[in-house]
Formats: sequence, structure tokens, C-alpha cells
Amino acid sequence: MVALLRVQRPELDGDRRRLARCHTVADLRTTARRRLPRAVFDYVDGAAEDEVTMRRNRTAFDEWELMPSVLCDVGEVELGTEVLGARSALPLVLGPTGFTRMVHPDGELAVARAAAARGIPYTAATLGTTSLEDIAAAGSPPQWFQLYVWRDRGLCKELISRAREAGYRALVLTVDTPVPGARERDLRNGLTIPPELGLRTLADGARRPHWWWGLLRSEAVTFANVRHVAGGPQAVMEFVGRQFDPTVTWDDIAWMVEAWGGPFVVKGVLTAADARRAAAAGVDAVVVSNHGGRQLDHVGATLTALSEVVDAVGADLEVLVDSGFRRGTDVAKALALGARAVLLGRPQLYGLAVGGQAGVERAVDLLAAELRRALQLLGVTDVAQLDRSVLRRR
Ligand SMILES: Cc1cc2nc3c(=O)[nH]c(=O)nc-3n(C[C@H](O)[C@H](O)[C@H](O)COP(=O)(O)O)c2cc1C
Repeated sequence: MVALLRVQRPELDGDRRRLARCHTVADLRTTARRRLPRAVFDYVDGAAEDEVTMRRNRTAFDEWELMPSVLCDVGEVELGTEVLGARSALPLVLGPTGFTRMVHPDGELAVARAAAARGIPYTAATLGTTSLEDIAAAGSPPQWFQLYVWRDRGLCKELISRAREAGYRALVLTVDTPVPGARERDLRNGLTIPPELGLRTLADGARRPHWWWGLLRSEAVTFANVRHVAGGPQAVMEFVGRQFDPTVTWDDIAWMVEAWGGPFVVKGVLTAADARRAAAAGVDAVVVSNHGGRQLDHVGATLTALSEVVDAVGADLEVLVDSGFRRGTDVAKALALGARAVLLGRPQLYGLAVGGQAGVERAVDLLAAELRRALQLLGVTDVAQLDRSVLRRR
């Protein structure tokens, strides 16, 4: 007789148990909220000022309905694609995030390894808390490096050549940060980087001992790409604060494109006019991004800007997009509007907070499974087949 009822073996590993209970990116976020000190969760989860743009990023997905075709053979589905001339197993890229070791002691290495395990690009950040060389050694190509332009152009050139020597494939210049956005949750929480044990954080630490233990037994959280500043993490923080350059213009792109000599991406474009400027400047791709709502509040959702940018430059450049992607259907809509791939920010950090590398892999796997199912239910067998015929504006 076949037994219909089996007793489940209990999962003893806490991280794995928690991850198995997360069935969506939203579940990962809920668990991350419980696991992280409030100031750290808010640093990841929050956005600028009234967070209007962050909410708009999400509601924009509701403005598009999907239009399925039935009775198509969807037995085999291809989710792989080519991004910047290299094969990616999914139309997903793990985007750049600063201070990642604040979320989990394994930080960038865990994210890079998860990207390598899933066959998708990872973007190491200038403001990373693990050096770009260590990340390159941990992941596998293709990896991308995200650049902030510093006042000292010599240092900037040095970063570019270090990234090239370490084997990074693409350079991603972030252009929506002439000055940092006003993340008011961080101000209210008194967030310090690196986190400090004050009276407030001590109380919080008592409820999240695993997080504090991870922080205390790992190397100090600081900007690992800054090599030449004497003094401790505080001196490095102050140095980087002074180095942000609000005077960068399109004229600077030319020397960076030349210095890099490989695929060059401009991240943070929101209008057709800027996308045309990027194309004229000789870049290979743009990321339609509002930095997850963390920079200028009240800009529009990236899904709305995406079609304008694709119409303007889609024939000349690859168009990528990010900000607010939490579901496979979100990704399907962006691809249908002409994006080549979607960058993820917070989803990978929620996963990282819950389970390190396995948590990042869980975030990617959940989105991949949702995307696969969405394609099958749409009657589509390849991400390359997605076009505007599967969409209708509400
Ligand atoms: C905690 C955090 C740190 C970030 N740091 C950087 C950074 O150093 N450089 C950068 O270009 N973008 C940075 N971003 C923006 C992301 O690359 C991405 O544009 C954004 O998070 C996408 O939105 P999503 O989080 O809704 O997916 C950061 C985002 C978060 C949440």
C-alpha cells in the first residue's frame, strides 16, 4: 500500500528552516525585518523623504495587465538571455549595494557567490565593504563593477584600472547621486556606519544577538576599496564623504569610456532625453533606475520611464531597469516593454539577511520560478518572445 501521509523530518539548521518558510520576496523582507536591528533594516528598506517614489515603483506594475495566449506548447521554457554580450542564465542582475556587510558578515562575498551559482552577473559597488579584488576572486565572470566618480580623478582612474585588472567585464557608472538622497529613516534611527553600540542599539542588540555576534566577530565594516587612507574606519568614512563629486557632467563620460575600454553602462537614467545623451556619449547600455526611490523623491516609477527610454534608444543601446521588482510578473512586464534584464537591489539584501548566500540564492530562485510560471501561463516559451502584445494598459 502506498503511504499518503508521511511525517516530515524537522529542519534543524535555523537559516534553512527560515528560508524554507519564505515563499516570496515579501516573505524574505518580513523575516529580514525580524532578524536585523531596526536601523540596519531601515537603511536597506527605506527611501528618500516621503518615500513617494518607492511606493510609485510598486503601484506602476498594477497599471499594466497581462494578456495570455492559451493552448500553446509551454513544456520547455528558456529564461536565459544575453546581457552586454555575455550569456546570463536569467534576465536578472544582482545590482550594486553599499555597506553590504552590515546586513550579514559574509556580505558581498555571499552575494557574488550566489550570483555565480545561479549564472547571473553581480555588480560590485565602489562603496563595497569587501575589496573589489576579493569579490572578483569569490565570484566567477561575468561580474560588473559600479563606479562613483570621485573628486580626485587620479583615484577614480586607479579604481577603473583595478577593476579591469581584477577581470570585471562591465563598468556601471551611477549618475543619479550628485549628492546623497535624504534617507530620513536613517536620520531618525541615528544610523552610524559602522554601527556603534550605544544605549539604543544595546537594547536592540539584546533582541538580535545573532546579528551583533556576526558583526563583532567579523572585520570592521568599512569601505574596503579605499586603500590609501591612514586611520581607522572613521577616517575612511570621512574621506569618502569628501570625495563625492557633484560637478560631474556628460563631458566626463568620454574619458571614462576610453579608460575602461569594455562594456560601459550608465545607471540612473529616467528620461528619453538623457538616454539619447548617453547613446551620443558612446555607452553600451543604460539602467533606467531611480535608485529604488532613494535619491530624488517624487520622480516617476521606472516602469513608466522604461517605455519612453526604449522608444528613444532601444535600437542603439541595451536598456536595463531596476527599482521595485519583487515578482516574476514584474520582471515579465519590464522585458515585454523592452528591457534586456532587471537589476535587483533590496531583494538580494533581504535574502542575505535571512540566510547569507543561501538566502540570496533563495531570492533569485523565487523570482526565477515566478518568471517561469508567468511565461508558461502567458503562453510564451522564451524571454526573448516577450513583447508589448502581452500587455494592456489598465
Ligand atoms: C542598501 C542599498 C545600498 C545601495 N547602494 C548603492 C550603491 O552603492 N551604488 C549604486 O549605484 N546603487 C546603490 N543602491 C541602489 C541599487 O543598486 C538599485 O538601484 C536599487 O536598490 C533598486 O531598487 P530595489 O532595491 O527596489 O530593487 C543601493 C540600494 C540599497 C537598497
